[in-house]
Amino acid sequence: MKKGGVVFCMCAAILLSACDKKTVSEKDSDAIDHKVEKLLSKMTLEEKIGQLDQITSAGNFDELAGRIKGYFVGSILNETNPQVINDLQRVAVEETRLGIPLIFARDVIHGFKTIFPVPLGQAASWNPETVEAGARVAAVEAASTGIRWTFAPMLDISRDARWGRIMESFGEDPHLSSILGIATVKGFQGSDLSDPTAILACAKHFVGYGAVESGKDYNITILSTEQLRNVYLRPFKAVVDAGVGTVMVSFNEVNGIPNSGNGYILRKVLRDDWGFDGVIVSDWNSIGEMINHGYAESPVHAAEIAMNAGVDIDMESHVYTPFLAQLLKEKKVKVSDIDDAVRRILKLKFKLGLFENPYVEIKEDPVFYAPEHLEIAKQAAIESAILLKNDGTLPLDVSSLNAVAVIGPMADAPHDQLGSWVFDGEKAHTVTPLTALREAFGEQVKIHYAAGLAYSRDTDRKGFTTALAVARSSDVILFFGGEESILSGEAHCRADITLPGAQKELLTEIAKTGKPVVLVVMAGRAIEIYKELPLVNAYLFNFHPGTMGGPAITDLLFGKAVPSGKLPISYPKMVGQSPLYYNHKNTGRPPVGELQTIDNIPLEAGQVSLGNTSYFLDAGKDPLFPFGFGLSYTTFEYNDLQLSSTELTADGSLTATCMVTNTGAVAAAETVQLYIRDKVGSVTRPVRELKDFHKIVLQPGESQPVSFTIAGRSLCFYNHEDVEILEPGDYSLWIAPHSAAGLEGEFRLQ
Ligand code: NOJ
Repeated sequence: MKKGGVVFCMCAAILLSACDKKTVSEKDSDAIDHKVEKLLSKMTLEEKIGQLDQITSAGNFDELAGRIKGYFVGSILNETNPQVINDLQRVAVEETRLGIPLIFARDVIHGFKTIFPVPLGQAASWNPETVEAGARVAAVEAASTGIRWTFAPMLDISRDARWGRIMESFGEDPHLSSILGIATVKGFQGSDLSDPTAILACAKHFVGYGAVESGKDYNITILSTEQLRNVYLRPFKAVVDAGVGTVMVSFNEVNGIPNSGNGYILRKVLRDDWGFDGVIVSDWNSIGEMINHGYAESPVHAAEIAMNAGVDIDMESHVYTPFLAQLLKEKKVKVSDIDDAVRRILKLKFKLGLFENPYVEIKEDPVFYAPEHLEIAKQAAIESAILLKNDGTLPLDVSSLNAVAVIGPMADAPHDQLGSWVFDGEKAHTVTPLTALREAFGEQVKIHYAAGLAYSRDTDRKGFTTALAVARSSDVILFFGGEESILSGEAHCRADITLPGAQKELLTEIAKTGKPVVLVVMAGRAIEIYKELPLVNAYLFNFHPGTMGGPAITDLLFGKAVPSGKLPISYPKMVGQSPLYYNHKNTGRPPVGELQTIDNIPLEAGQVSLGNTSYFLDAGKDPLFPFGFGLSYTTFEYNDLQLSSTELTADGSLTATCMVTNTGAVAAAETVQLYIRDKVGSVTRPVRELKDFHKIVLQPGESQPVSFTIAGRSLCFYNHEDVEILEPGDYSLWIAPHSAAGLEGEFRLQ
């Protein structure tokens, strides 16, 4: 048992040797600090307050120029024309007293022009290198127009498929989100912010936004300190440690306090506990919205609350510029807080090299959609696809086919396969599955196309007849269904997450032809599919795959590429299971053994509570597919789990190893996952937690030992007193292909 012997964790504390020699980057940083102080000392209060103002590029140049000259605006979002960016920059640099450059910001979420799979799709790759490469391409393309700040990655832990923004997340797990968050930050920021292709990353939305009640956007969030610290804050901590430049405050309230006014979240956690010295930006009008929340009584009050809570930049609430000077005079805000905020902003501007090179070089030949960018996007789309069912129909053998039917509203939907949060990617560059199939196999096999439905929400059945005729005259049916891009994303939540429109009916009719059906879904969330799944022979799930989705899917369907994606979420059987996540608590009544279902309850059964457990009569206890699950065209076996020791000390580590074998006929990648369970805690612990993973490639018949090191300190967690602790006790571990399987071992933390 544990208790007694609790160790207070110093996981983040690094003992520095008493050494006065400074590294090059420390010297650079000293030099920048010196420049910042010099500049700050020359600034008037109005000039300082201007730096805290972020406004959108409304398209009226003279008005914007007027604001820059009159109010010393610090940053502008949503301008993408490099000529206009340079012209606005010239106003700031040449027509204001101190010539402080602007930063231009944009939501570059999953690509700028070349669009990558939505972040939730990228998370299915479980591959930080792929994610980093995508962010790098996005940075190169965006920076070429003068954009030097993006509002990504979104690190909101997302456990609810109803929430439209789940597509923008890395899913439900704090560890996976941390690793992929770090990869994204590295890709955007590079190793040196002054590189003209580097753009500042922004970890958002701080914090708890993914836990909005009932999956409805902007809704309230109620989270215990233990859940906040152990789940929702973790990816943010990871990217702060990795050097993310900025953090965005979320719209939602946490436990009754809107985050734009939440000093505990911003000052205590982010600044004091974690030592974050980058910039904190509000979300769009989130300071002003504290009035709607019923937390601020007026715009001036909202400005006071936000500044005191620690928000540096006011994005589009327009309350800092008009009210901060007055609030200062009334001693309601502190000049030291304003100075600190300005310091942080200037520091980033120096780091970005904007004082030396404020203008973007306008190249005649834009880097957009460069062949190597498209190749990286295709690879990302391949790795993001998850094979969830296959009776052997896939991969298709082109030589045995005479005709293929391509049916469904997403087969040729160049806009919609890009997904939500795309402002700059153009559908003219999208390669759809229909185009890619025709290009790859058009000469070898007949490709019969009939969408059946014009778009995902279409309920008009007039196209059914042709689609059915096409189905009957083909050897195999590829049904491309899903959601249009606009059905997910910000404020686009759904209470019914089944295939929209008449897609279910079309699929049902098509299946009646008796021809093999491969269902390919592109969507911004998990789609409730359990009723349609028995109708199909294979199910390839993609999220929205981006510009190169078509070629990626074509390679996968015909075996040129092998599916390797694994779910970054628990895939619900029914929407009513939401929120749904594998790392849940056990409860006092966990479901085990035979469960009573809605169909086997006797008529007029008496009320009993004995033996009742925590599950749904109609949906059961499990998701349709567990977190971490995904099939391949091969099979893998896990054998021979070995632990270097069954005892672990706080400062020690142990190694767990198992042998993974490719038992099939094709080379393929497998993501091997390490889970642990802390059996007893002074606060209850999850039934499983992902601790690590390795993605390996095995040739047919090849075996490889896969090892994981577990450090004692990595088992720290937060208790209800907001203290990070390490408790001695017994643990289970699993090396596993997904969260509901694996080879199990035991160890004890001393
Ligand atoms: C609101 C969104 O919540 C946020 O993610 C985005 O970055 C800003 N708008 C700016 O567009």
